[in-house]
Amino acid sequence: MKRPILLHPDPRLKKLCTPVTDMTDELRSLGDDMLATMYDAPGIGLAAPQVGVLERLIVLDCVKAEGEAPRPLIMFNPEIIASSEETNVYEEGCLSIPEHFADVTRPAEVQVRWIDRDGKEHTEEMGGLWATCVQHEIDHLDGKLFIDYLKPLRRQMITRKMTKLKRELAREKS
Ligand code: NI
Repeated sequence: MKRPILLHPDPRLKKLCTPVTDMTDELRSLGDDMLATMYDAPGIGLAAPQVGVLERLIVLDCVKAEGEAPRPLIMFNPEIIASSEETNVYEEGCLSIPEHFADVTRPAEVQVRWIDRDGKEHTEEMGGLWATCVQHEIDHLDGKLFIDYLKPLRRQMITRKMTKLKRELAREKS
């Protein structure tokens, strides 16, 4: 089931999310809902706070090539345990900040640890788009958005435009 995605600025997108301690069916179905929401958007990653849940859970699937099998990942308590010195620049976007994109520099390769829906621990090296995406999503769990990497002026400009967009959307609804 699809869930509504919160739009920046929203105080819930600035919060530190709490670790998942007990795997429940509710959390598993939240993961499924988040994947459905992400694919529908469409996007390549989504974090729980973006659907208003302040727990450490992200989903991603960065397979973009036509004909390649999808690889949906649901990650509880994801953590970067090592990062490369080498960096990469990607033009990032965010489902909570639609239609705004900017170059962000991040470590090119990261080692990520997480718990899956069955409570099993995984560790994996990620590179390319996967590395960027997983770092972007984990940032969400710490209340950080990709625009926080930009110069203040650019960030304020995007925030102003988003505030205006939200006002217009609210007006349309009423
Ligand atoms: Ni995002």
